[in-house]
Amino acid sequence: MPDNTTAIQEKITALTERLHYLNHQYYQHDTSEVTDQEFDQLLAELQQLEKEHPELALPNSPTQRVGGTITKQFPTALHKYPMLSLGNTYSEADLRDFDERVRRGLEGAEFTYVCEMKFDGVAMSLTYEQGQLTQGVTRGDGTRGDVVTNNVRTIKNLPLHLRPAGPAQPAEFEVRGEIFMPLPVFDDLNKEREQNGEALLANPRNAASGTLKLQDSALVAARRLRFFAYSFLSPVRGVFPTHSASLEALKAWGLPVSDTWRQCHSIDEVLDFIHHWEKKRFELPVATDGIVIKVDDFQQQEALGFTSKSPRWAIAYKYPAEAARTRLNSIQYQVGRTGAVTPVAMLTPVPLAGTVVKRASVHNANQIAALDLRLGDMVFVEKGGEIIPKITGVDLTQRPEGSQPIQYPTECPACGTPLIRPEGEAHFRCPNDTGCAPQLKAKLEHYVSRKALNIDGLGAETVARFFDLGLVRTPADIYDLSADKLTGLERLGEKSIQNLLSGIEASKQVPFDRVLFGLGIRYVGETVAEKLAAHYRSMDAILLAAAPELGAVPEVGGVIAESLAAWSQNEANRALVERLRTAGVQLALTGEAPKAVSDRLAGLTFVLSGVFEQHSREELQQLIVQNGGKITGSISKKLSYLVAGDKMGPAKREKATELKVPIISETDLLAMIPTDTQTADEEEILAPQNPDSSAETASNETFPAPTGTANDLGRQASLF
Ligand code: IVH
Repeated sequence: MPDNTTAIQEKITALTERLHYLNHQYYQHDTSEVTDQEFDQLLAELQQLEKEHPELALPNSPTQRVGGTITKQFPTALHKYPMLSLGNTYSEADLRDFDERVRRGLEGAEFTYVCEMKFDGVAMSLTYEQGQLTQGVTRGDGTRGDVVTNNVRTIKNLPLHLRPAGPAQPAEFEVRGEIFMPLPVFDDLNKEREQNGEALLANPRNAASGTLKLQDSALVAARRLRFFAYSFLSPVRGVFPTHSASLEALKAWGLPVSDTWRQCHSIDEVLDFIHHWEKKRFELPVATDGIVIKVDDFQQQEALGFTSKSPRWAIAYKYPAEAARTRLNSIQYQVGRTGAVTPVAMLTPVPLAGTVVKRASVHNANQIAALDLRLGDMVFVEKGGEIIPKITGVDLTQRPEGSQPIQYPTECPACGTPLIRPEGEAHFRCPNDTGCAPQLKAKLEHYVSRKALNIDGLGAETVARFFDLGLVRTPADIYDLSADKLTGLERLGEKSIQNLLSGIEASKQVPFDRVLFGLGIRYVGETVAEKLAAHYRSMDAILLAAAPELGAVPEVGGVIAESLAAWSQNEANRALVERLRTAGVQLALTGEAPKAVSDRLAGLTFVLSGVFEQHSREELQQLIVQNGGKITGSISKKLSYLVAGDKMGPAKREKATELKVPIISETDLLAMIPTDTQTADEEEILAPQNPDSSAETASNETFPAPTGTANDLGRQASLF
């Protein structure tokens, strides 16, 4: 029936044009004349007609965006113009060098730059012939790429045919740009994957490239990819005088061009553009990792030319720190070994620099107030240090309505004790150090740790488990454990129990200084414990000492002394010491106390370096102390002598020479002290001067290692 056919053809054409128009309005101008439902009805109507009359469907019908073509594998195609990459830099100085090179290359002629966002997605080359999209090819190796036209057709903001508006279109030309997964789409996808227990996608770029490689274009359509055009290439020379004119034309023809690009007339303007977008770029719905700077004039581009890898007329500036944006869902308050309460931000999982971040540190209450954090906020997270990410800011444009500032707890989240905040300290603290569960547990873990009592068979995990089971509460309880109490526990066989009990027995021989360290007294780290043990020789003497006296011990300052004295005043701590004594734990140094045998070296300080012939380094240190001298770790102007052994590092010698510190030999040192004191006592070795790093680590203890490596995530991403 020809008449009927004509009517159907007209209907199909009308529907096709209407849908193209609505798509254009929606994706290029963010407006819509119809509701989503009306749009879907029109689309369904067209689909139905095309299904009944496939011969009447128009090429590039909007229904093709829905996908459905299953490709077995992608054919490849040669690029007409190689797809090169860009030179890139993180430094502003490099950009000034680039500017100089361009200036020289153009022999002083005036020129203008165009600055654009560097979109972090997948590069795509599109061919348009007679206004119709005919091919989409990935970058591949730069010379040849995969033909993914069917998948590209599903990208809704990418016109299948161009509008006959603006400047005349060449019969055939190429558009290059970036295909990306919008951040909200990426967030949704990862949320869905998390709910399904699937591995999270590392970043939106991987998500976009994985999607494009899907063989079923219906699946690609569901992934809601988008496109931004950034280059126009044509075999006809001189279509446009400048890159900026070509961007405007692409936009007029209906291609999506991000409105973020600007012309810049100097490198300073380029730098202003870079600074402007440094944080603001996170407000864009697309991941960006820098700025691309291009010479605007096409003839000047041609004059500058290419190196083998990249154009001389363009460069990419990459923003430094890896940051991500995600939602702050809640704040958990963790109580560390010394009672410090650390807020931990619980986040919607987000990939950041190769790992998936689920929580971040916010340091303390001041930080929460300074950032004005609120629950539900979209926050920026950066990798602070290596593993623990931190919240660096809030995306205020996304703040949920009616949100309230976070109220820091006034009571310990674990035991309910009112929190205190000693003057000048950043952390709130739970003072209930003898009754607060997380503190007790962390103290136990510390007591059994390698540098403290190092109990064989009783690691941090086991002791935490025993705590949860109510078997131990303080270190003294460890010595009440018996085969009777432990038999029958899951994953603890007879052999393990024997091993554990003999480890506990052996710990009774651990020297007093390590026991003192193991008590986990705030600020009493390894080195301080050694100093205190060497000075007082017993726990009893330490318990009797008042703060000013403790503070007078070398290396023990006022803050440590106050903390230690307060610990000693606490009845529960004294009771703990008594129980440890009863158990047989070392609470005093054994052996003879070192006698100050002379004061020959009084007022002198020494650094020992290298290997010595007549005595060990420890013996020499002891001799120095016994004769009234002091040992320090670093070379300064105030140092009296550097005692040089064999294989001393050249840096130390240089520094001593520079500061005019006398360098003496082992023999010179021995000549300075009476010969009858030159025998060493094994027990009285002074510690080398390490900084006391382990005294206050509570706030970092609670973060596990990252949950995945970049490789893991990369592999997972490519699977989907
Ligand atoms: S222009 C000759 N402009 O960055 C190079 N590239 O190494 C022409 N990219 O994978 C590229 N945003 O896909 C250009 N506004 C932009 C870009 C951009 C992202 C990507 C591009 C390529 C890489 C360059």
